[in-house]
Parts: sequence; structure tokens; C-alpha cells
Amino acid sequence: MNVVEVNGARIPAIGLGTMTLKEQVCVDAVTTAMRLGYRHLDTAERYGNEQWVGEGLHQGLAATSLKREDVFVTTKVYWDKLAPGDFEASVAESLQKLRLPWVDLLLIHWNNPKVPLADSIASLCAAKRKGQTKHIGVANFTTAMLDEAVKLSTEPLVTNQIEVHPFLDQSKVLGACRRHGISVTAYCPIARGKVPGNEVLERIGKTHGRSSSQVALRYLVQQGIMPIPRTANPDHLAANLAVFDFGLSAAEMAEIGKLKRPDGRVVNPPHAPTWDS
Ligand SMILES: NC(=O)c1ccc[n+]([C@@H]2O[C@H](COP(=O)([O-])OP(=O)(O)OC[C@H]3O[C@@H](n4cnc5c(N)ncnc54)[C@H](OP(=O)(O)O)[C@@H]3O)[C@@H](O)[C@H]2O)c1
Repeated sequence: MNVVEVNGARIPAIGLGTMTLKEQVCVDAVTTAMRLGYRHLDTAERYGNEQWVGEGLHQGLAATSLKREDVFVTTKVYWDKLAPGDFEASVAESLQKLRLPWVDLLLIHWNNPKVPLADSIASLCAAKRKGQTKHIGVANFTTAMLDEAVKLSTEPLVTNQIEVHPFLDQSKVLGACRRHGISVTAYCPIARGKVPGNEVLERIGKTHGRSSSQVALRYLVQQGIMPIPRTANPDHLAANLAVFDFGLSAAEMAEIGKLKRPDGRVVNPPHAPTWDS
């Protein structure tokens, strides 16, 4: 598995998204993914599935020669748990459910306009100092929020997890991440099922003997962006990892780049204000 190195973190270039996966389906998806070569798991307190992601991880470790350190685990603190006190409780509960003393990456899942960013960033940094997470980062941060977070944080931020896929124009925030030396983790890389059937992606896929989903993932990986596609389907799990043995030409990258639109989001923020970048 290729890795993205950023601010001391080595993040496997593709991860398994787990939102909506629950119970045995979730456990099986995680163990199958680990067997297939996934080394990066994405969960969140909000998904209500940390106990099953943890169970899958522990079963996967027991069934292989992998060590805990070989798998990069991310979880997140939701926007309604960012106030001092609530933040610490959320992290403790996540670790307990995952049955882990630490995760690799802890993210602020969304900003909360009613909690000063100084407070939530301080809590995030404290979690790292306490050894509850190896690295810290943010999710759904706009350019302005990133600028502020970078100034406030006493620890390096390693990623901004945001919606990225071929149908959404994220040029501005991608530029801000690059400027700050922060990696980008792409959620909804299959645009929640809108990628399959797209004429351009299907046609380019055919020329490489790949699916449109593989082309969409390759498009991101080739830009150094780390997608975390979600599936429990073993064929899709395998296909989503098989994107490192072909390349898209500059012309193909440019053609896919023309699909992006400012209003191409498939996810709405859980609270106002809405997106400004
Ligand atoms: N930080 C945040 O605010 C945030 C927000 C949203 C999501 N996320 C994270 O990002 C992850 C991914 O986003 P998402 O789950 O919303 O959307 P997604 O990964 O873009 O889309 C999931 C859909 O894609 C399909 N799919 C996956 N691989 C496929 C393949 N090879 N061929 C055809 N279809 C395929 C799946 O269908 P099948 O089940 O049939 O394979 C599923 O319906 C989440 O699970 C979560 O971990 C984070």
C-alpha cells in the first residue's frame, strides 16, 4: 500500500470508509478489507459503529500477522461534542468502543460555530499530548477555518477530510491545504454512487480495462489525495484497492477535471453557516 507522508504521519493512500456499516456487516467488511490489504480505517463517534469497526480490527489482527501499528485508524469528534468536557468524554468513549488505547488520527468532524475554535483545537492538541491519538486533523474545514486552525494549533495538523470527487470543485480549499502542508482525505470519493454510469468516467475506464469507480479513485490518488471509499461488497473492496497499477494521462486527468462544479456536493453541512469555499 502506498502511503502519504505528512507532518510525521504515514497515512495509507486509500482507506475504508465505514459510515452506515453496522453490526456483522461492518465487522466482516473490516476483516475482509484487512485481508485484502487495507491498512487504513475511517470511523467516527457519529457513525455509531466504533464497536464493530474495533471488533473487525481485532479479529483482523488475530487472523493475520499484522500488528496494531500496521493499521491506521481514524475517528472523529462530532460538532455537538466539541465543548470542553464533552470533547474529552467523546474521545474516551470512542477509545473504549474501539477497544484501543490510542487511535492514529483524531479529527474534529465539523466545526461548531458556537464553540470557539481555540477551545476545540486546544482539546484536540491535549488528546495528542495525552497519547490518545498519534496525530490530529480536521474535517470539513474551509480555507478561513484552516488558516485559523493552523495558527491556533500547537501540534501539526495532518489532514483536512473533505468531500472530494470528480463532480465537485474544491480548488480553493485544496489550494489552502497545499499551502499549509496539510494532506487531503477525500470522503464520498464515489460521490455516493453517482460515479458509476458517468459517461466520461466509464469511457476512460474502458480504455484501461477498469470501472468508472476505479477511474474516480485513481484521479484522486494521482493528485496525492487519499480517498476513503465505503463498501461492504468484497468485489468492490478489492476493486477499490486496485488503482495503483495504472495511470491516467494528462489529457484524461484534464477531461475528468472538467466534470467539477461548484454545486456538485452530495453532503450538506449539519448546521449553518453553509460552505464558503
Ligand atoms: N468527514 C465527514 O464529514 C464525512 C462525510 C461523509 C463521509 N465520510 C467518510 O467517507 C466515507 C465514504 O463516503 P460515503 O460512504 O458517504 O460515500 P462513497 O464512498 O462515495 O459512496 C459509497 C457508495 O459507493 C458504492 N461503491 C463503493 N465502491 C464501489 C465500486 N467499486 N463500484 C461501484 N460502487 C461502489 C457503494 O456501493 P456498494 O455498497 O454497493 O459497494 C456505496 O453505495 C464514509 O463511509 C465515511 O467514512 C466522512
